[in-house]
Amino acid sequence: MNTLDHQTALEQTARKRIKDSHALDGDVDRLTHFYRGWASSYELDVGRDGYCGPMIVAELAGTVQTAYLASERPAIAILDAGCGTGLVGVELKRLGFRLIDGIDLSEEMAEQARGTGVYRHVQGDVDLNGPLSEYSSASYDITVCCGVFTLGHIRPDALRELARVTRPNGFIIVSTRKSYAETTSFEDEVRRLQDAGVLVTAQCLNDGKYIAEEGAHYWVFKLPDRACAETEQQL
Ligand SMILES: C[S@@+](CC[C@H](N)C(=O)[O-])C[C@H]1O[C@@H](n2cnc3c(N)ncnc32)[C@H](O)[C@@H]1O
Repeated sequence: MNTLDHQTALEQTARKRIKDSHALDGDVDRLTHFYRGWASSYELDVGRDGYCGPMIVAELAGTVQTAYLASERPAIAILDAGCGTGLVGVELKRLGFRLIDGIDLSEEMAEQARGTGVYRHVQGDVDLNGPLSEYSSASYDITVCCGVFTLGHIRPDALRELARVTRPNGFIIVSTRKSYAETTSFEDEVRRLQDAGVLVTAQCLNDGKYIAEEGAHYWVFKLPDRACAETEQQL
């Protein structure tokens, strides 16, 4: 096999793996098993496919801090939900953030993230489809979630827990692959949470670059003042 054929074969293998990851039906055991086997080659595979989601999400976090937050970047507490091997954390560190925690379902992916040295703490075995019971309400200034609102991974209603752990006047930044946004009730969930006063859509970058095979939408949600949210929930 010549070098070009070898390159093409590697790209095809990477694409198949990425595609297979979308067929896991949100099943915790299947997801855990799949990512256990992918953790060591994940970054090479998504890199071959031009994955730029982590850079965009991190840069949105940087923009939000500059535009809206009083504290300097090193003092901003960030939760990287579904941190995987730590690609978002590395980008956040590059932009000057220092207080970054990561959580992920896969202990093997989390272990890779720990190895980057950019996180304050990384916790594996955390299911974003359930309550984040070990995490107090209003703990983070910014919560980011990249590549996880993806087919076969987490449900749109996971957004509510991300909102709970983010402080009033804080921000949530998430990517949704186009195929996910088109085939799930993500936008309905956003409307529900907005109507309940849980969050407000501050910005949405539609169909941005994400990975070779398709684009993604990038959402920036703002959490209202606590007083405001409580009043609206009582209505
Ligand atoms: C495509 S990777 C994205 C990782 C990283 N955020 C990035 O952008 O490279 C998806 C990650 O979501 C995690 N994941 C999938 N389902 C999950 C769930 N229910 N709860 C928590 N993490 C989950 C996987 O273990 C994997 O690390």
